Amino acid sequence: MGAKDREYGHQPGECGGRFGLAVYEIVESKACGFDVGRGAVESAEDVDLTMRIKMASNGLPVAVDTRSPAARAALARGKALFDKRVGERNHSCADCHTPERGANKFLGGRLLADVTTGLTRHFPTWRTSQNDAWDMRRRMQWCMTPLGMNMLAADSIEYAELELYLTQFDIGKPMSVPGIRH
Ligand code: HEC
Repeated sequence: MGAKDREYGHQPGECGGRFGLAVYEIVESKACGFDVGRGAVESAEDVDLTMRIKMASNGLPVAVDTRSPAARAALARGKALFDKRVGERNHSCADCHTPERGANKFLGGRLLADVTTGLTRHFPTWRTSQNDAWDMRRRMQWCMTPLGMNMLAADSIEYAELELYLTQFDIGKPMSVPGIRH
């Protein structure tokens, strides 16, 4: 892929054909919620495709543009969700994943990841304990268990806004997909 493909200024056809559809067409279609015929969020096809697209950017700094009012509003809602106490145990994501609280400490043998170090740039990631590739949404769904609440749908707006908030901490850091975690 040429450097131009990584920018919004790319021209149709410049990277077309490589994956059947041009990468940016798929990315933009997915971002806009259109069905590009690759299966639902969290399906094996979707995880594979997301991994393939992100791998094309490995080593490049994560760059998310949150300057628009709509993006800033979504970001604020994502942060509010991260801090919101929910579920049977009345815990928030922040209770386990911020350095002021549980992050960098062990919970049942698992080191609690610190949100400020950036937890998104290696997703989809390979999970050795599951023998499977997981996207960010599945990871969040699993964190509903310690929260003591029901999972939301993988494509729920709440997870999208949480993911945007989490991704902020990865801006400028190199994309590294797939990661590997236990
Ligand atoms: C009771 C503690 C707890 C709560 C609350 C919790 N998590 Fe987690 N989370 C964990 C554990 C344990 C792991 C696995 C740590 C590891 O990767 O070894 C984890 C892993 C993650 C990871 C993957 C980190 C990585 O490096 O791959 C993300 C992202 C994440 N959590 C997001 C969230 C979000 C978003 C919420 C709130 C909706 C949340 N978590 C709530 C305990 C928690």
